[in-house]
Amino acid sequence: MPLSNRHLLGLEGVPKEDIQLILDTTTTFREVLERPIKKVPTLQGKTVVNLFFENSTRTRISFELAEKRLSADAVNFSSSSSSVSKGETLKDTMRNIEAMKVDMVVVRHSAAGTPKFLTNICDSNIINAGDGIHEHPTQALLDIYSIREKLGKLEGLKVCIVGDVAHSRVALSNIFGLITMGAKVSVCGPSTMIPRNIEELGVDVIYNIDEAIQENNVLNVLRIQLERKAREYFPSIREYAKYFGITEERLEKNGKDIVIMHPGPINRGVELSAAVADGLHQIILQQVTNGVAVRMAVLYLLGTMN
Ligand code: CP
Repeated sequence: MPLSNRHLLGLEGVPKEDIQLILDTTTTFREVLERPIKKVPTLQGKTVVNLFFENSTRTRISFELAEKRLSADAVNFSSSSSSVSKGETLKDTMRNIEAMKVDMVVVRHSAAGTPKFLTNICDSNIINAGDGIHEHPTQALLDIYSIREKLGKLEGLKVCIVGDVAHSRVALSNIFGLITMGAKVSVCGPSTMIPRNIEELGVDVIYNIDEAIQENNVLNVLRIQLERKAREYFPSIREYAKYFGITEERLEKNGKDIVIMHPGPINRGVELSAAVADGLHQIILQQVTNGVAVRMAVLYLLGTMN
């Protein structure tokens, strides 16, 4: 059964069957990653371009590894070392790259809607690797996979997304995906970082972090996006850490067996203490490992649709 769309632009409106198919396919590729030779010939002959207009460590390397482990030809584009620095437009850049006969494009851009725009000007499968404050679907898929792997189910689980929800593409994709999969989703953070009317997406809002810890099975803790002027939304980083930072003391005080997640990169001592970031509750590096398998699943399912 194929996916219902030949692009992955976000998780809004993606049917449960599609997410289930991606998660189940991920399990197959997760097993490949444990083999001595972590490579399968599935996408031999396909060419994938990683078009990154924003910095990235996890997503870019993860996609490149996923492509190589599927035997696709992977080409990396970085805007800072490209002709974009000479003024070439996104449209011209994309059309020139596609003229070199590529099959799939993975794109990260600071402008929300860029992946959708690319679907209008080229024929390749487009995968959104993060567009502004809009969506980051493969991050949410790897988060959802990691929760299911750790706790054995998604239906009925309580997941709270903590922090800078207003500026987070990770938050939005998680909300769409988790609700579709039957989880109960809440958000927690300073009121300035919780979008007005977010309840309309089907989430609860909690303003007290201790309450969020007590009421949930999982905290997915977001990065404070200092590069997107997030600092203007609270008085000081010290105050943010005091009221919303996850520390061992806070977890012990609430006496709760809870799973702590973070998409990375972490601001240590701000959203997570170093002890929590390296501690027993967190599954942060499992998320990263699962990210390669999730991206292999997405590339495989889209790349074999054409
Ligand atoms: N989680 C995430 O998107 O990290 P990068 O910005 O390093 O890709």
